[in-house]
Amino acid sequence: MLIPTVLTAISLAINLSAAAELPLFRDFPSLGKAISRVEILHGPTPLGPMPMLEARLYSEVGKPAPARPTLMVKRDDISESPLGGNKARKLEFLLADIFGKGARGVVTSGMYGSNHALATAVAAHEYGLKATLILGPQPVTENVRKKLLAFHALGAKLHYHSNRIGMGLDMLWAYLADKIMPGRHPYYIPPGGSNRLGDVGYVNAFLELRDQLGVDGLPDTVVVPVGTMGTSAGLLVGTCLAGVWERVKIAGVNVADPLLTNDGATRSEARRLYNFIRQSADAADRARMPSCNFKSRKAFEFIEQYYAPGYGAAYPNVFSGMELLKQTEGLIVDSTYSAKAFLYFLDQSRHAIASGRALPHMLFWLTYNAYDFDQVINKHHWTNAAEKWRDLPKPFWRLFVEGRPRAQ
Ligand SMILES: Cc1ncc(COP(=O)(O)O)c(C=O)c1O
Repeated sequence: MLIPTVLTAISLAINLSAAAELPLFRDFPSLGKAISRVEILHGPTPLGPMPMLEARLYSEVGKPAPARPTLMVKRDDISESPLGGNKARKLEFLLADIFGKGARGVVTSGMYGSNHALATAVAAHEYGLKATLILGPQPVTENVRKKLLAFHALGAKLHYHSNRIGMGLDMLWAYLADKIMPGRHPYYIPPGGSNRLGDVGYVNAFLELRDQLGVDGLPDTVVVPVGTMGTSAGLLVGTCLAGVWERVKIAGVNVADPLLTNDGATRSEARRLYNFIRQSADAADRARMPSCNFKSRKAFEFIEQYYAPGYGAAYPNVFSGMELLKQTEGLIVDSTYSAKAFLYFLDQSRHAIASGRALPHMLFWLTYNAYDFDQVINKHHWTNAAEKWRDLPKPFWRLFVEGRPRAQ
């Protein structure tokens, strides 16, 4: 046990020292001293045009696509390890805080098929932490079932909830236990990994995009799904710190309950994040940070109408958008988050072409981790390979047998 611990400590030290390479820390060096990071992503995620998609959209109205593509995709879906997608960017900063506080375990929550819960379970598995996942109800699909099996295969302890009240109380207890005795109880990560530390990952992500494209090459609009709001808030603060406020608009497509996820709450999250970053910087860096009015409609648009019929459920046009993206660009998205944002992206593009205008200079930020978790599930030693779910805590069993023509 001692050797792996020493190795983890050495690799953490190496990773923490590499933090100065981040665009955010290069632009504002004092932040690199104030905010720690565990390096999960080794460099920028790829970025590319979407020529096949453009050709298809123009062909739908019988026109040839212009020679220079304008639609782009930022590929946060690509990663060599199971720890990818938008959660990896947040976990880099959350993990550093976990290690800083000396916690041995981590607790977080999400719906049964939560991407964030999965990313946390992967991170805990990779970094030797005990993960507890507080899970609540959402429509059960094969994808959700696969994630539940992956949680178990990764060694996470699962708490089942059939309603949001029980789930909320469990989360409250986990939060209070961590606050009252930090380091002694599992470190509490809020849903989606969205807090000011996690969100720093997406402030940096926008600066990474600026470095890749140069200020002049930046799109006019960045389209991204909004769940717990950290991703869009981070990108919004990024546009501020990059000095392209109101020049690049963040278009956040809501996929979660509007009671908690809405325009005002996203702007407040961004404002709090911006203040945290300012407070973490020294006077010289602070003086170079632009000030931004987070009420601006030109800088941020919250798009509500793609949420219906609800979290984790989708109309057929979401699935046809997914299919189109797969057929044209070979990209995989999930129907809960990224496919709804992509549908907005598609609707905007089709609308521009149908009105005889050029396609907007728009970027789709692909936040879904496309790693195939069958690899993790198949490596695990299950008691009964045909009914793997029987190894999960009993309350979860109904999620595998209900709606199937087989008795429990
Ligand atoms: C694939 C995917 N995209 C986008 C989001 C939304 O990000 P945020 O919760 O930071 O708003 C999530 C959140 O879980 C996600 O899993």
